Parts: sequence; structure tokens; C-alpha cells
Amino acid sequence: MTPLRRPLVIAVDGPAASGKGTVAEGLARHYGLPYLDTGTLYRAVALGVLSAGRDPRDAEPARQVARLLDPGLIDLVAIRSPDVGAAASIVAAHPAVRTALHDLQTRFAAQPEGAVLDGRDIGTVIAPDAVAKLFVTAAPEVRAERRLKQHIAAGRPVTREAVLADILERDARDSGRDMAPLTPAADSVLLDTTHLTIEAAADAARRIVEAARDRA
Ligand code: CDP
Repeated sequence: MTPLRRPLVIAVDGPAASGKGTVAEGLARHYGLPYLDTGTLYRAVALGVLSAGRDPRDAEPARQVARLLDPGLIDLVAIRSPDVGAAASIVAAHPAVRTALHDLQTRFAAQPEGAVLDGRDIGTVIAPDAVAKLFVTAAPEVRAERRLKQHIAAGRPVTREAVLADILERDARDSGRDMAPLTPAADSVLLDTTHLTIEAAADAARRIVEAARDRA
């Protein structure tokens, strides 16, 4: 008799522009699993708050936007601007916002076949029992270079210095907040993509998942 396998839930966490989205998407494609980029949720809340002319530092408007968020209606282009990214890390520090977005994410992770989620607190808070947990990182200068290329390709006027400053500021805010800070889960495997091509990072990620699967 074939032994029953646990649903393949894969948690991918890491700092801004570390390559976690690319790694997570590649894993989802490889294993045929649904994929959720949880950063889009926080970015959508930030966009909603900014569009309403409210201050992202105020918890109440951000909580209201988060409670009413429809993931199917997120403007996937507008949420990518640097201003929205910065505001996302501000709204993400409000416990009420994280609480409002919690169930949506845990439901996604609980699909029968499994799921791939990427973010900052997937392995620690959203899916602590995930079969495989990856913490994807890269040197800040390399992350800034990758993000700069994305902004330029999308026609957004930014400078290398501003992108690096934004990344460092967001890292500090994401790691320093009280609720669900960015930190590797104790049982996560570190994947440093500083010197890796996309293909090499994807291969390494698959090896990490296969090893975790064998242990599960
Ligand atoms: O794509 P990038 O790495 O720049 O960031 P993102 O994943 O789109 O997330 C944007 C912001 O949302 C982050 O800076 C975090 O503050 C917040 N976030 C979070 O707090 N928890 C998550 N699970 C995902 C994102």
C-alpha cells in the first residue's frame, strides 16, 4: 500500500526582492500547486489606503480596507509602485491588518493538494506545519539591482540609490515590527540567491523541497 502523503504546503519567506516570488512561482509550476504571493495582499491594502487619501500609519483605515479586500479585484500593476511598496510595509506592521488578512491566507494554505505561499511570515505564522520551508535571501545590492531592472522594465522612473534605500528601510521595518516580524522559521532552509541564476535558484529550491518531502 502506498503511504499517504501530507498535502504539499511550501512556505517561501524572505526580504524584499530576494527572488522569493520567482522561486515560489517556479515551485508551484513544477508541483502543479496553487500559488499565493501574500505581498500582493499587503500591497493592495496600502494602495486602498493611499487611494482614499488616508495615512498608512493609521491602523483603522488600513484595517477597514483589509477586512473588505477582495483578492480577485487587486490592481496588479498599480500595487508594484515604490510608493505602494513602502506603504505596504507600514500597513503590514498594524496587528489589526495582519489579523484581518490571516484567515484568507490560512484557507489558501489548507487546499487538499497543498499550496505554495510566499511572504514574510508564512513559515512562522501562516503555515507553521508546512512540509517545506525556504528562507530566500540575497545581498542588498543585488536585490536593489534586480528591483531596479523590474522598475525600469515597467517604465517607472527610479534611481538605484532610491531603490536600495527603500529596500533597506523596508527590511528594517519588516524585521523590527512586533507582530510576525520577518525572521527565518527555526526549521527553514536558507537559500542565498546572491550568486545564482534563476535556473540555479529554481534547482536548489526543488532539491530543498525534495529533501523536506523525504523527511515528512
Ligand atoms: O516584492 P517585495 O519583496 O518587494 O515585497 P512584497 O512581498 O510584495 O511585500 C510588500 C510588503 O508587504 C513587505 O515589505 C512587508 O512589509 C509586507 N508583507 C508582510 O508583512 N507579510 C507578508 N506575508 C507579505 C508581505
